[in-house]
Amino acid sequence: MIKPSHPAEAFWKIDLKIRRAFHESLKNWFLTHQRNLPWRDPRTPYAVTVSELMLQQTQVKTVIPYFNRWMTTFPNWKALASASEQSVLKSWEGLGYYSRARNLHRLAQTVVTELKGIMPSTVEGLTALPGIGRYTAGAIASLAFNQKAPLVDGNVIRVFARIFACAENVAKPNVIAEFWNLAEALLPETDFGIHNESLMELGALICTPKNPSCSLCPMQKICKGKTSPELYPQKDRPKAEKLQEKIALITQGKKYWVIPGKERQNGFWLFPTFNPSTMKWNQDFGSMKYGFTKYTIEMTYGLCEFKSKKSSSKEGQWMSINELESIPLPQAHRKIVKKLQKP
Ligand code: ADE
Repeated sequence: MIKPSHPAEAFWKIDLKIRRAFHESLKNWFLTHQRNLPWRDPRTPYAVTVSELMLQQTQVKTVIPYFNRWMTTFPNWKALASASEQSVLKSWEGLGYYSRARNLHRLAQTVVTELKGIMPSTVEGLTALPGIGRYTAGAIASLAFNQKAPLVDGNVIRVFARIFACAENVAKPNVIAEFWNLAEALLPETDFGIHNESLMELGALICTPKNPSCSLCPMQKICKGKTSPELYPQKDRPKAEKLQEKIALITQGKKYWVIPGKERQNGFWLFPTFNPSTMKWNQDFGSMKYGFTKYTIEMTYGLCEFKSKKSSSKEGQWMSINELESIPLPQAHRKIVKKLQKP
């Protein structure tokens, strides 16, 4: 195999002609093939911010119904800023990575109380706000305000890694830094938002992780990776670590014992972790596996009881299935409730 070039090398080879051709091919393709997505029309700063936060680590098809419901429940910064944390988490329930929902809520409060409801339009102004990193700032500045700002996400990395045949491990910070340089060098002279969004769209529709549609790609002529796209991007990720979790479903009549979540689960309610010194495990009820960041969690849950009345702490509450339906629960615990309804 020919050793593919480093992105930096590709970066220095980009002259104005390539930059224009790159942009023109991409833009023309996007204008005819882009999906009709709800956050693209109207493309307000609020809609762009909500959608960009929802789209992090989450697929477009999952996000669409959440986004539509969100815009009905919280149609603008003001409505979101004055909502309760519980209702915000409830509307986000099932999307995971709940710090995004808390950050968005906090952001709305900052925009309303400190910025008179007006979002800054520059990357500098945006990154100064709570919960907005480099990617989100680049996305809002370019997509909502057409500012000249680069943007790199997983789709963009895959597209660039293939077009420039980058053999480096794209999980390394120094390689990611080069992708940001490359994204900046490739920015056109106008239409920054369209340019960035078309790169992501190309990654979502054509330059897909598996079985890319190279024969339909507008970048075919210049792509160095088209004969073996499966080689790119190269990633050396550590294997997921396994964790075991035992969850106790403690009943009293038709009610279940739930406790308030702490730290990253703040604002949620949870079935407690089984504690053999205060609880008795009566019967297995089910099991499931789910992923969280670098972990694979193997959860078993069972019907339990407290060994003595005093074991239930002051913090928890007994709740009926109906009550459990109306409060925010982590996704795995929501699935348990569904199973309790229809075992
Ligand atoms: N992924 C993140 N933001 C996106 C957008 N605006 N269009 C397509 N895919 C995206």
